[in-house]
Amino acid sequence: DPPLRDLADAKGKVIGTAVTGSRLTGTYGEIAGAQFNWLTPGNAMKWGSVEPARGSFDWAEADRIVDFAEAHGQEVRGHTLVWHSQNPNWLTNGTWTPAQLSRLMNDHIALEAGRYKGRVAAWDVVNEPFNEDGSYRQTLWYNGLGVDYIAQALTAARAADPDAKLYINDYNVEGVNAKSTALYNLVRDLKARGVPIDGVGLQAHLILGQVPSTLQQNIQRFADLGLDVAITELDIRMQLPPDTAKLAQQAADYKAVMNACLAVSRCTGATVWGFTDSDSWIPDTFPGQGAATPYDENYAPKPAYRAIHEALGGT
Ligand code: G3I
Repeated sequence: DPPLRDLADAKGKVIGTAVTGSRLTGTYGEIAGAQFNWLTPGNAMKWGSVEPARGSFDWAEADRIVDFAEAHGQEVRGHTLVWHSQNPNWLTNGTWTPAQLSRLMNDHIALEAGRYKGRVAAWDVVNEPFNEDGSYRQTLWYNGLGVDYIAQALTAARAADPDAKLYINDYNVEGVNAKSTALYNLVRDLKARGVPIDGVGLQAHLILGQVPSTLQQNIQRFADLGLDVAITELDIRMQLPPDTAKLAQQAADYKAVMNACLAVSRCTGATVWGFTDSDSWIPDTFPGQGAATPYDENYAPKPAYRAIHEALGGT
């Protein structure tokens, strides 16, 4: 029974997982290393993690994940350079002129993407820039620098690590809708202007039974712009407790997502946002919901695991 990563490798596709660095030992580490060909640090590379006090850096968890990936022949998806959330308090609570903000952002990108130059295959350079209606989210960056912060960030990331694929990543952009159309228009315009952009990340934090029917069509329209598409944070949550019917529906949903991606050559593959229910953000954020990942809390593979396996050509 081949692991997921062997099946994905044979197709030239990504099967990734978000990971927590401190857990990369024991069974968790064995599964993370054996089953996946890409890793994304779930929190370790966020600005608030790496520079908790201004000028004082903590790269330990990020380094640990990158080292683990290299030891296991895995690629790393860097997550994330510019976001409105999980920033250090000194940054969030500061009062900054536009020039200072621009300097802070550019220096941060140069430092972090530069530190991992050649070791991070793709970066989520800008995370979650849009509101649900397709307008720009009012953030530290947007309010201070206007929409140009996105082009600035991409340009800085390219300069820091010319070989890394550069992405804009967002949620609720899996189907064709106002938000994904805003993302489409943005990346089309960036490309037309010659701003470095290689792909879009569709996070895919989905709800049981609600895989968007336009997922493949949406992936295809981004691909048709000459961009890569990655499913970056896949999970499919349900009302707890799970039962046989719900787990079967979840397996069908995972398979539908994998199949939509695999049907488009420029879809690079999928990363799950934690491979075990014991390492998922869902129960903390949506009380009463969970069981969103392919392995249960005790590391037993669920029907969703088999569905991913089958979609990748296994049995
Ligand atoms: O590290 C502290 C720990 O010391 C403390 O005891 C504990 C008590 O609450 O909190 C821990 O920090 C938590 C951190 O995850 C690490 O577990 C934060 O409270 C918690 O807010 C944080 O949640 C993360 C969330 O982003 C924050 O927005 C999730 O783990 C992470 O999976 C999630 O990931 C995001 C992506 O980056 C972007 N897309 C959406 C996705 C889900 O929210």
